Amino acid sequence: MPFAAPARGYDLVVVANRLPVDVSVEDDGTTSWVRSPGGLVTALNPVMAQADGAWVGWGGAPDLELEPFAVDGTELIPVTLSAEDIAKFYEGFSNDTLWPLYHDVIASPTFHRAWWEAYQRVNRRFAEAAAAQAAQGATVWVHDYQLQLVPKLLRELRPDLRIGYFHHIPWPPLELFSQLPWRKQVVEGLLGADLIGFQRGGDAANFVRVVRRLTGLTTRGQVITLTKHGKVERHVRAAAFPISIDSGAFDELARTPEVQARAKQIRAELGDPEVLLLGVDRLDYTKGIRHRIKAYGELLHDGRLSTVSTTLVQVASPSRENVDAYVQLRDEVEQLVGRINGDYGQVGHAPVQYLHQSFPMEEMAALYLAADVMLVTALRDGMNLVAKEYVAARSDDRGALVLSEFTGAADELTGAILVNPHDIDGMKDAITYAVHIDPRESRKRMRRLRRRVLGHDVNAWSQEFLAVLTAVPSREGRGGHV
Ligand code: G6P
Repeated sequence: MPFAAPARGYDLVVVANRLPVDVSVEDDGTTSWVRSPGGLVTALNPVMAQADGAWVGWGGAPDLELEPFAVDGTELIPVTLSAEDIAKFYEGFSNDTLWPLYHDVIASPTFHRAWWEAYQRVNRRFAEAAAAQAAQGATVWVHDYQLQLVPKLLRELRPDLRIGYFHHIPWPPLELFSQLPWRKQVVEGLLGADLIGFQRGGDAANFVRVVRRLTGLTTRGQVITLTKHGKVERHVRAAAFPISIDSGAFDELARTPEVQARAKQIRAELGDPEVLLLGVDRLDYTKGIRHRIKAYGELLHDGRLSTVSTTLVQVASPSRENVDAYVQLRDEVEQLVGRINGDYGQVGHAPVQYLHQSFPMEEMAALYLAADVMLVTALRDGMNLVAKEYVAARSDDRGALVLSEFTGAADELTGAILVNPHDIDGMKDAITYAVHIDPRESRKRMRRLRRRVLGHDVNAWSQEFLAVLTAVPSREGRGGHV
């Protein structure tokens, strides 16, 4: 049944699995919140700060029944997930089926029919929450793989809306995507949108090929034509919109005396190493953390890096700790770190400083400034915003970025030292090159990187996406709403 537009709805509604904040309820019933993890929230926060919009999402804990509340001028509309929804929809279908499948099957995806049931049920809940908030003819922007059925469900409820969807993670080749038992329903869910955005041109091309093969619809370049009873119904565009960060804010933050002093202090506290390497990731098997630490350990073993004057700081922020593959990864990484520190450490010096924690933006900026070489060695990554943050923080034009060619960022960040993280010898050579890079060459590369990252920030990204979406002819007045 179509939904009526609310009397006072929002003109822009973002729908994402997570709210931009994680909520917790204290024993006395008061609520507190902290910023949610991950790239999506990092990217969208500044967009929402400028729009009079609403954000529909989950507060990050089970059974939270909350009234809408405002944070930084954005109205947050909480969607409730039960413990069972979290287990089957979030940890199960989203993060143990789709996540590994879309990341080149680095870990094996698990297919459970009960998880698919939960995915459909929860996607409907999100679609209904968005339908209840959007003004007549509003724009609704749906985000990421957890909510791929929302565009279609929402269009059925509210045919008057303009619907955009952005896919933050890779879109896999047809040969991998085809493993999904519910592949056709997922594609049809997405085709409910007017515009489907991807990180890279290659992702959009993979998607269009999947559409052609699984639905038989006609495609022409980026445009997919939907037909009903032999007549053209509407068009869907699938295109690349590489996401970015609030680069200006990062640049400014890293220029503050506090952050600069903290960067010096970090190096001093580490014993003023000659070379400071840095890795910053969610603790996820897609990030290539083990490959990176392995290469580092071998460099110490071979004597190509000094065991006394080199430090690798590895920040690994806790993530999805109830999913088996993540539990196993943590064990493996910690064993590897322990072995390297045991073999090559000394009293007062550990070659790997491993931090299984999350840090505020100020501390991250200081770490980026302190590091000589940033290591981003993901096996597969939609974009990788850490690479862009590092560049934005380096207003001194110093520092080197070693970047996996399997990240979306590699398409844009041509000044980086590109690596194939599966090639441990190649990665060892690249790290050695970065450590000994000629300062003139390094500055040249960093300037190129900064031109790109500062010249294309998250605002440019969202404006480009929303401009293309807004150009879609309005459906207002086409009926369907009651
Ligand atoms: C990636 C995904 C986001 C997700 C984030 C954190 O950036 O693209 O959709 O929110 O990881 O993961 P989590 O499972 O904690 O939401």
